[in-house]
Amino acid sequence: MITHIRQVSLGVPDLSRAREFYEHQWQLDVVGTDDGRLYLGTGSAESYSLRLRAAEESRVDLIAFAVASASDVDAVAERVGRHPEGRLVGPPAERQEPGAGYAVRFLDCDGRTVEVSAGLGSRTFEPVAPGQSRPTAISHIVLNTTDIDRSRRFYEDVLGFKVSDWVEDYFCFLRTGPAHHLIAFTSSPHASLNHVAFEVLGVDEFMRATGRMMRNGLQPVWGPGRHGVGDNTFSYFQDPSSGFVMEYTTALQVIDEETWQPQVHASTDQGTDQWGTSNPLDDAVLTTMRGLPDAGLWTPPPV
Ligand SMILES: [Fe+2]
Repeated sequence: MITHIRQVSLGVPDLSRAREFYEHQWQLDVVGTDDGRLYLGTGSAESYSLRLRAAEESRVDLIAFAVASASDVDAVAERVGRHPEGRLVGPPAERQEPGAGYAVRFLDCDGRTVEVSAGLGSRTFEPVAPGQSRPTAISHIVLNTTDIDRSRRFYEDVLGFKVSDWVEDYFCFLRTGPAHHLIAFTSSPHASLNHVAFEVLGVDEFMRATGRMMRNGLQPVWGPGRHGVGDNTFSYFQDPSSGFVMEYTTALQVIDEETWQPQVHASTDQGTDQWGTSNPLDDAVLTTMRGLPDAGLWTPPPV
């Protein structure tokens, strides 16, 4: 039912510093502003991929998924309404933001606000040319959770996700189509955003994106490397002003859903980074990606 991740909305304590990071370092395009909200796009027709607004503390405002039709939005609302842990923020309604369309917002079992939408208008955009390292889309999102089985079941039941693979019992990859994962959950002492991954064109563009950040004085939190599970490349960087971690990635595995059997993988160096080029996945890396408890839980954003 879910076709892709449409956008992520973040509340940040210093909007101008966050803008500097996401526009000038991360290479998203500012596509609009309104009422203190800043909309940033990738090299795609999606109306925007990241929304920023000023907030007292860093918080995830929204994780927004796309579905194909208004009736799919209604079906999600119905499933949320029936689910014992589902909480609708409001009934499905016309969206009031760039791209318009029709959407429903609800809280997931950890209290994150999720939006599911359809019928958005497209945006004129500059396509990413070979050699350019600008992101083309959001690839996937990883979420820290205190109860990985509860989170997995909620996303299976309400949004139709399917398990693609596990790493031991603490990392669960979920998909809604042939892309190996759209979201993943990892066990953590608190619920928060682990990272948002942005797709770039290919491995060359991925290395250019990574190197561009390094030349600008930002070292990767972790990477560059290539994961075993999912087969995608990774370079994780932290927005210094908000603390959120973003990933450049490419070449995520495309699976045959007819024959795919989820596996439980052991945690090994080779599985973590096939290339062996990344820094070790040590406590400092894990702590950065765990972040602080999300200040946005159980409190839907005002907009
Ligand atoms: Fe990732």
